[in-house]
Amino acid sequence: MSTAGQPGRIAAPTADNIARAAALLRAGKLVALPTETVYGLGADALDPVATAAIFAAKGRPADHPLIVHLPSAEHLPRWARSIPKEAIALARAFWPGPLTLILPREADVPDAVTGGQDTVGLRVPNHPVALALLAAFDSGIAAPSANRFGRISPTTAAHVEHELGERVDLILDGGPCQVGIESTILDLSRDAPEILRPGAITADDIARVIGRRPKVRGEGAVEEDMAQAVAQAIESATPRVSGSLAAHYAPSTPLRLLPAALLIEEAAELAGEGSRVAVLAHGCADPGDSRFTWIAAGADPVAYAHDLYAHLRALDALGADFILVETPPADPAWSAIADRLGRAAVGSGEADET
Ligand code: TXA
Ligand code: MG
Repeated sequence: MSTAGQPGRIAAPTADNIARAAALLRAGKLVALPTETVYGLGADALDPVATAAIFAAKGRPADHPLIVHLPSAEHLPRWARSIPKEAIALARAFWPGPLTLILPREADVPDAVTGGQDTVGLRVPNHPVALALLAAFDSGIAAPSANRFGRISPTTAAHVEHELGERVDLILDGGPCQVGIESTILDLSRDAPEILRPGAITADDIARVIGRRPKVRGEGAVEEDMAQAVAQAIESATPRVSGSLAAHYAPSTPLRLLPAALLIEEAAELAGEGSRVAVLAHGCADPGDSRFTWIAAGADPVAYAHDLYAHLRALDALGADFILVETPPADPAWSAIADRLGRAAVGSGEADET
């Protein structure tokens, strides 16, 4: 196949390119779009063939539902057959923004989008390029994170290109994602609100708006047996949340979480045995040991989340034998980061399937 003369897949978010992206979506093609959380792999959410192509491109199992991105909260009734007052209050408070609401679906939302469930995940993303594309498209864009299934979510256009290559028709470049980790997912389809996936919007943020604290799936897990707790939560998990698989967001280099007190000791021991070691630390200072590569992560959770996936990609690309990550603080503000790191540790070290 000749690629000569083909325009690059990564496109600047000019008005022309946004119109082109909307036209591609209407034609059933896949367009990667920046959001404030991570890049999404978008398709027309009402087109079952186009949404099926998302699963093929990602290598994602068909029963994992997709989030539908909307131009504004006014579009909610097109997708959700009942909209509780709490959903309206939360949309008002946090949209556009990193909060996905799970609501009872309208009958004609394709099964490919909902994973055959009676609910649909909806959010209005807070990124000017995503909002411009959604306004031009004027309907829902189904978009999971634009990575191969189980791997690290992309936070730049180059990451998307690296993950999906020619499986995506166009990548709109909106720069590095501001938040850096995926949206909080709040299930409002059942009696009690429940956070299925932690994110930048916390249980306390939600409680301030709706006057009751949502349940948090997996809450109470202590650091040491986080992986086990995650695995248990998965087993009991319905509906399915692919981000809730124990192994997710994972580098191919084995990744271990270690408290600051053990980090340098363990890194030195592994290096002493001849292993190549890469470290991600947010509190522990770089000892300047030339035998390991050290990345200093943000010291606060906002800065840490912003760069987390880019750091994991950089660490993975070193070809080290181990990635050691300093355990994040046991503080609610860090819980989304702890969640992602726990799953990255469980899924790490597996050979790529392609
Ligand atoms: O920040 C985000 O949410 C990003 C950007 C692109 O918007 N998207 C994202 O999509 O993280 P994805 O597919 O990687 O993760 C979406 C999660 C999945 O774990 C999926 O199972 C869950 O949302 N989900 C979607 N619809 C659902 C539903 N009806 N019930 C339960 N979980 C649902
Ligand atoms: Mg994902």
